[in-house]
Amino acid sequence: MKIAIGSDHAGHKLKVEVVKVLEELDVEIEDHGCNCEESVDYPDYALPVAENVASGAADKGILICGTGIGISISANKLKGVRCALVHDVFSAKAARAHNNSNILAMGERIIGPGLAGEIVRAWLETEFEGGRTRHA
Ligand code: RB5
Repeated sequence: MKIAIGSDHAGHKLKVEVVKVLEELDVEIEDHGCNCEESVDYPDYALPVAENVASGAADKGILICGTGIGISISANKLKGVRCALVHDVFSAKAARAHNNSNILAMGERIIGPGLAGEIVRAWLETEFEGGRTRHA
C-alpha cells in the first residue's frame, strides 16, 4: 500500500511522528512536505496529496495542519477525494467503514502523537463496509 503524506508548518512535527508510525507498518510512504516550521500555505501541500490519491498514484493519503480543518477543506475540493478530519479512534474506524474515506486529516494543535498513531493504525486497518449510505 502506498500512502501519500503532507502537512503545513503547523503540522510538521506531527507529520514526523506519523511517518515513524507508517515506517513500522508495511506501507510505502511518499512525503510531499513541508519539511520546515516556517509559515507555508496549506493548500500547496494538500493538493499534491489529494491529486495522488484521486489519480490512484497513492492508495491513501494523510494530511496534517494546525487544526486539520484548512488542509481537509483544500483536499476535498478534488473530485474523488473523501478526506475525513478525525481526532478520535471511533471516528477513524467509522470514516473508513461507513464513509470510505481515502484521506485522513488531523490537527497537530488538537491531538498528541500517541493518539495520532492510534488513529492512523485504526484508519488503515479498517475496511469499507460497502456502498451503503444508510447506517444503523
Ligand atoms: C496555521 O497557523 C493554521 O491556520 C493552519 O495550520 C490550519 O490550522 C488551518 O486550518
